[in-house]
Amino acid sequence: MHYFKRILLLMITLCLSINMTAYASMAKKYVIGFSQVTTTEPWRLLFNKELRAEAEKYPEIQLIVRDGNDNINKQISDVEDFIRMKVDAILISPKTAKEPTAVLNKAYHAKIPVIVLDRDIDNDQYSQFIGGDNKIIGKAVGEYIVNLLGGKGKAKGNIVEIWGGKRSSPAQDRHSGFYNVIKQEPGIRLLGEAKDGDWKQDKAYEIMADAIEQFPKIDIVYAHNDPMAFGAYMAAKDVGLHKLIKFLGIDGIPVEGVRWVNDGILTATFLYKTPGDEGIRQALRILQGESVQKRISLPTLVIDKNNAGTILKQNGLNR
Ligand code: FRU
Repeated sequence: MHYFKRILLLMITLCLSINMTAYASMAKKYVIGFSQVTTTEPWRLLFNKELRAEAEKYPEIQLIVRDGNDNINKQISDVEDFIRMKVDAILISPKTAKEPTAVLNKAYHAKIPVIVLDRDIDNDQYSQFIGGDNKIIGKAVGEYIVNLLGGKGKAKGNIVEIWGGKRSSPAQDRHSGFYNVIKQEPGIRLLGEAKDGDWKQDKAYEIMADAIEQFPKIDIVYAHNDPMAFGAYMAAKDVGLHKLIKFLGIDGIPVEGVRWVNDGILTATFLYKTPGDEGIRQALRILQGESVQKRISLPTLVIDKNNAGTILKQNGLNR
């Protein structure tokens, strides 16, 4: 009798666990594949953290995250895998604009919703784009610099611009938004040719070290992101010039740019909101059959000594 009881118990447990697994996979109605360009920068880590946290809120979402290792060919093959796996939606933040366009268009035409995040591709054959408006941010940087250098029509000074990846849309837009403002100022000189820092702190250090050797007077460094602004600051510091130059960046995440502004390393940074959480919310809406806006523009904010301390406090980072 004892023996039969044990068999019965075993069978009940087995049935229950089979049912639970079936329930779990039924509950995971939507598989979302996300291709992230790299995970080596704090901005990308925050992006992934928010995206994962948002996905966790919905038991029906199963998320697959692939790291592109900063390599566009790896990202293309990750997207090809997603297509083969017949995922329900693809999210991507691509390294460059041109190369991933074909594979993403293929997914879109195969009726897999495609949401492009932060860096745009070459055409708009996708379901949605979500990101900060880099032209607006570039323009805000230009206006801020014109004020620092003496105001509209009177501004005077020399600027080094350190580009992010030139083949990506944020770098192009961050340049054009800024350039359209400063080109109207006869007293402002943009020094040297456009140098591609590929968003990297170490590359920006080298670009700045070269610029210091080449140009006797630099007033402002405009780097397309905070890590590069910090790299340029380090290069100036190493030759004792950091106090004579003002450094501006973009991203404005609390643990990085906001802290550097608060510490007086950067004069200002401009918020470039991470799009991960919004990406998940929008994907879900699309998967539930809702129609969504083609482009979602995330807000920006100037962060300088007037508000950096408050932002740090709001994020529990006051020291
Ligand atoms: C991170 C990053 C950010 C920048 C964004 C632009 O990889 O370089 O610093 O704002 O990408 O796409």
